[in-house]
Amino acid sequence: MSDFGRFLYGGDYNPDQWLDRPDVLEEDIRLMKLASVNCVSLGIFAWAALEPEEGRYDFGWLDETVERLHKGGISIDLATPSGAKPAWMAFKYPQIRRVNAVGQRDPQCTRHNHCWTSPIYREKVRQINTELSRRYGKHPAVVLWHLSNEYGGECYCDLCFDAFRQWLRARYGTIDALNKAYWSAFWSHTYADWDQIKFIDGTVNGLKLDWQRFTSEQAVSFIKHEVEAIRAGGSDRPVVTNMMGFYPVLNYWDQAPVLDYVSQDSYPGWHKDTPDPAVGLDVSFTFNMFRSLKAGKPWILMESTTSTVNWADVSRPKRPGMLRLQGLQAVAHGSTSVMYFQWRKGRGGAEKFHGAVVDHTGDEHNRVFRESAQLGAELVKLGEIADARTKADVAIVYDWNVRWAHENSRGLRNVAKDYLGTCQSFYKPLWKRGVATDVIDSLQDFSKYRVVIAPMLYLLRPGVSERLHAFVEGGGTLIGTYESGQVDDHDLVYMGGFPGPLRDLFGIWVEETDVPVDSTPQSVAATAGNALGLSNSYKARHYCDILHLEGAESLATFTDDFYAGGPAVTVNKFGKGQAYYIASRNDERFQDDLVGSVIKQLGIAGVLGDALPDGVTATSREKDGRTFVFVMNFNNAPVDVPLPRPFNKFDGGRVQKSLALPPYGCEVLVELA
Ligand code: GLA
Ligand code: ZN
Repeated sequence: MSDFGRFLYGGDYNPDQWLDRPDVLEEDIRLMKLASVNCVSLGIFAWAALEPEEGRYDFGWLDETVERLHKGGISIDLATPSGAKPAWMAFKYPQIRRVNAVGQRDPQCTRHNHCWTSPIYREKVRQINTELSRRYGKHPAVVLWHLSNEYGGECYCDLCFDAFRQWLRARYGTIDALNKAYWSAFWSHTYADWDQIKFIDGTVNGLKLDWQRFTSEQAVSFIKHEVEAIRAGGSDRPVVTNMMGFYPVLNYWDQAPVLDYVSQDSYPGWHKDTPDPAVGLDVSFTFNMFRSLKAGKPWILMESTTSTVNWADVSRPKRPGMLRLQGLQAVAHGSTSVMYFQWRKGRGGAEKFHGAVVDHTGDEHNRVFRESAQLGAELVKLGEIADARTKADVAIVYDWNVRWAHENSRGLRNVAKDYLGTCQSFYKPLWKRGVATDVIDSLQDFSKYRVVIAPMLYLLRPGVSERLHAFVEGGGTLIGTYESGQVDDHDLVYMGGFPGPLRDLFGIWVEETDVPVDSTPQSVAATAGNALGLSNSYKARHYCDILHLEGAESLATFTDDFYAGGPAVTVNKFGKGQAYYIASRNDERFQDDLVGSVIKQLGIAGVLGDALPDGVTATSREKDGRTFVFVMNFNNAPVDVPLPRPFNKFDGGRVQKSLALPPYGCEVLVELA
């Protein structure tokens, strides 16, 4: 069993908005039981109710809520309230309000708007967290601490800049070393003294990158501070904070080590212009990173919507079955929960029309509630899987530092760089085949995988080149692409030819790069008899490296323009392994042929073989020698999924040669002993 002994099922619960409606609060418990809700995230934005005036706490309502939930058998993911500060605090202590990039202090609007550096804010957070911990931190109903809410944003106040300058001193020691790292002679940006670092000039690429790292680390420092306050109050319950997929500002690999669980808020835009299977792939990719963030430890789906959101341009109700499919998709990819924002729709405020388990009708008589309750009941039955794990042979590297450096840098192509999309394009063939895939950053252990795909690895963090060499030398298979090995950790270009330190590993030298525009497409043709068995011709766009072989073998060549005949796909034997270099951004058919051939040669297969119908994926979790296979249909149409062998269905019965899935259906199969 997981630490929780079951799947957590529930959502954000805000009784502080309903304190004058005891009838509603009582009704909540009845409805929660009906929906098999067993956990709620409580009091996330309740600071104004908890501390209506400085130092005067009002825990009465929370005492009652905790007891009411406990009596109802519902566990609590108790929040620290730092995500929204009360008005009295914001005005008494202006320094706690965040400052934007052009120096304006936040007037106390919305939420998530506090400074992570401010000693006063930290002290206020310490006090309330410690109080909450003392009072509730050992209560049997409290199983988890929900730290703040969606840490995000940046603060450019003087306090943050002081902290940034200290951070820089610790990193560089001398201002000369910083100037060297920033190549600051360019445009006369040389800093004579630390104090001259007063704003973030994006044209100093190294400075911008360091600021992004600092901001991410400052969030971690604030998280640690919140946790220390909880521990000081005597609670040893696990801590989690809710993250936002590939949120640009914070590197979640920085946060994972200081949290007991990672969790994520997932709001895909189903049923719109992007076909649902494509949305499903994107969601699986993100979920895979959450599974990888703590090396396979089950993660928590903290928020999702039962149906609609209020903040998208357009938000369509989830079609029948989609609530269940998305919940089970999280479970399939390693989640130990399905939780929603929000339990009940409020009557006012910005989110009154955001989806919830309980609608404004206030009862259970509607489709969304029924589907929620059905999934709740199903998760109870699936409870034994809550801590099952997934072993992946393939990893895709997606690294925030690489992303930031790509985004900051100006070069041959400043549009459609699409780092994330490129990583996902290598995942698609794996998703389609149901091949378990981790999503890791470049500092993770490569040696536990057989294949590492590291697209557009433009920036090499310290040790990455050495570890990639060791991985391939030891027998691993590496797939890399254009836009790799160009700069070091300070965004300084490697001298001596691209892909820099990876040149001998790939056995090539990239002399120039073409960045075709749509009116001058490029094509790639497989070389007859190539070792990968590629046999098609493919369209290439956006990036085409013009390269020389330095030990590698060419598997395909460009067909057009002045570099026609030049290598477009290469493989280099290195030690016991091999490194593939993909010189251009190729079409989907290429991605499928390439990844399909590489894994086939290595004997890596999908959990149900390779023949899943379009829009269907499968992935598995294992426990005590038993394998549970989740088969998911993202089509709004029924499908028959061919099975390579018979399986038991988790909820009874056996399937032999094929599995029939309804539109948006999902079935959990159990491998026969
Ligand atoms: C985020 C927040 C929630 C809520 C939802 C709405 O995930 O954490 O408080 O605002 O969005 O989708
Ligand atoms: Zn600040």
